[in-house]
Amino acid sequence: MLAMARDMSEIAKRVRATGDFAAVEERAINIRQAGETLPQLSPAGARSAGFQAMAGNLVQAAGALERAAAAADPTAMSIQYRAVWQACGACHEVFRRRK
Ligand code: HEC
Repeated sequence: MLAMARDMSEIAKRVRATGDFAAVEERAINIRQAGETLPQLSPAGARSAGFQAMAGNLVQAAGALERAAAAADPTAMSIQYRAVWQACGACHEVFRRRK
């Protein structure tokens, strides 16, 4: 999770400026791969269909961000970046313990 948060902030630095598409693509791949392992890491009680589906949404969104970066398309990148954040937030809303 902390690795994914780091990847997201590195992506955030690059989504708007610089044209550093390769770095965005690399981080998006990290997130997609982390998302693919989420169902196994899921906390007790979260092995539900809902959790699996939301992990799947994250994998899809990260995959789309990856493709947008590979295509060097900044507009698609910022749209998909937001979609990834929404996938993070949607799962946290339901499954993350409140502090
Ligand atoms: C499928 C569900 C799910 C998705 C998707 C998800 N998370 Fe989480 N996340 C959790 C859960 C559950 C916790 C709480 C873990 C706990 O309570 O032990 C958590 C906790 C965290 C934490 C707190 C630190 C930690 O390690 O406990 C961070 C930071 C975090 N997530 C970042 C992200 C980011 C960034 C994304 C998207 C790239 C993301 N998460 C996507 C389920 C998810």
